[in-house]
Amino acid sequence: MKLLRGLLTLLLLTIGMVACATEEVKTLEKQEDKQASADNKLYQANCISCHASMFDGKADEIFTRKDRKVKTVEGLKARVQMCATNLNLQWFDEEVDDVTTYLNQEFYHFKPVAAE
Ligand code: HEC
Repeated sequence: MKLLRGLLTLLLLTIGMVACATEEVKTLEKQEDKQASADNKLYQANCISCHASMFDGKADEIFTRKDRKVKTVEGLKARVQMCATNLNLQWFDEEVDDVTTYLNQEFYHFKPVAAE
């Protein structure tokens, strides 16, 4: 009986530890999601409608089409900056960087710059 109780305690402890670890991973993932969705919102709010109207409602196509213009992560940043300037958005460098990172993660998959 004692042995059984001991085993049961051990089992419960293990379950508890696994549950805690899972919670921690979830929190981390949530934080990352939050950042990504903030960047996504910036992009959705300011950029998407125009690209969508160019590609029959499929805004992503401007980034995924075969003859896309951007070839490097620096080029991507320059293009984001250019579109933002054209729109008179007056974004800080941080916002340009965030949207660049978001578009790179989502569509371009260039190797990120070391400083990031
Ligand atoms: C008023 C319309 C319009 C808006 C709004 C707009 N863009 Fe663009 N975007 C364009 C046009 C036009 C191109 C060039 C298409 C081409 O060269 O074929 C372009 C191209 C791009 C490209 C390069 C795509 C490629 O070929 O690889 C990126 C990146 C981009 N835009 C990002 C943005 C971002 C970020 C925003 C919001 C800050 C934005 N755009 C808002 C019209 C717009």
